[in-house]
Amino acid sequence: MTSGKTKTICIFGHPVTHSMSPTIHNAAFKNIGLDYNYIAFDVDPKNIKEALISLKVLNIKGANITIPHKEKVIKYLDQIDPFAKKLGAVNTVVNVNGKLKGYNTDGEGFIRGLKEDSNVTVKNKNVLVIGTGGASRGIIASLISHNVKTIALTNRTEANAIKLKKEFEKKFSFTNFTIIPFKEKMINKLLPVFDVIVNTTSIGMEGEKVKALPLNLRYSKKSVIVSDIVYKPLATPFLKEAKKYKRKTNDGLSMLIHQGAIGFKLWTKKEADTKIMRSAVLKCLR
Ligand code: ATR
Repeated sequence: MTSGKTKTICIFGHPVTHSMSPTIHNAAFKNIGLDYNYIAFDVDPKNIKEALISLKVLNIKGANITIPHKEKVIKYLDQIDPFAKKLGAVNTVVNVNGKLKGYNTDGEGFIRGLKEDSNVTVKNKNVLVIGTGGASRGIIASLISHNVKTIALTNRTEANAIKLKKEFEKKFSFTNFTIIPFKEKMINKLLPVFDVIVNTTSIGMEGEKVKALPLNLRYSKKSVIVSDIVYKPLATPFLKEAKKYKRKTNDGLSMLIHQGAIGFKLWTKKEADTKIMRSAVLKCLR
């Protein structure tokens, strides 16, 4: 039950109707009896400045920022965490006494999900990242800050991979990057090297035409961890293939939930129960 004392957290996106963030956060608030409410707002890109100001006007305690606003919000914040600044994207805003501070918890959510859900750390590991979109950028930045050994990048449009590599080499002073052509033969040849493989593209997502990634997990290390950020369906064709070859998997809810849990802590100073968050999403997806 909300009352005059209830605190509000929200999400700004466009579109936003499919967001799972209200589901995970409201379940976690309820679970520990926090008097908070999480709501979604569809904000047209032309109104994003006013939306940010409204956080102050309405004393909304925090917000998630999603597509297509993650880069544009930066100029309307009072403060930005150095990591989010370097990355150039914000997914979490905290309202501290009328001052807005931005963070990026996406990549950290991925790393924490691997650790907590699959018992894998990335330090000194060789990682294959498929895709170069917003999710990929967050994941790569966090992989670097957690001291991975090498990152191999493959992408349908190779020019995007080359661009990202150049930008990140400069920004993060990380030089152990390689680019692999988006061709099955080429990827398969290098597959035995990787300790972690992550799909950050929408390949395999419900409704998408392309279901299969150009690689065969038969050639991967037996100890590899195969991760997919797609969570609709939860068992993506890629994760199904991993299971077929008895490889360990990390599903798309892992990153979603852990990036949320980090934001939850920033807003409330309390730990979210990620198991409660997961069961709430699963109920919703069913
Ligand atoms: P987001 O910001 O949500 O991560 P995005 O910026 O649209 O999404 O990025 C999507 C990523 O998935 C890109 O790497 C894209 O490849 P391109 O750079 O070639 O566009 C990749 N992607 C999307 N659909 C794909 C498909 N059908 N086949 C291969 N790659 C695809």
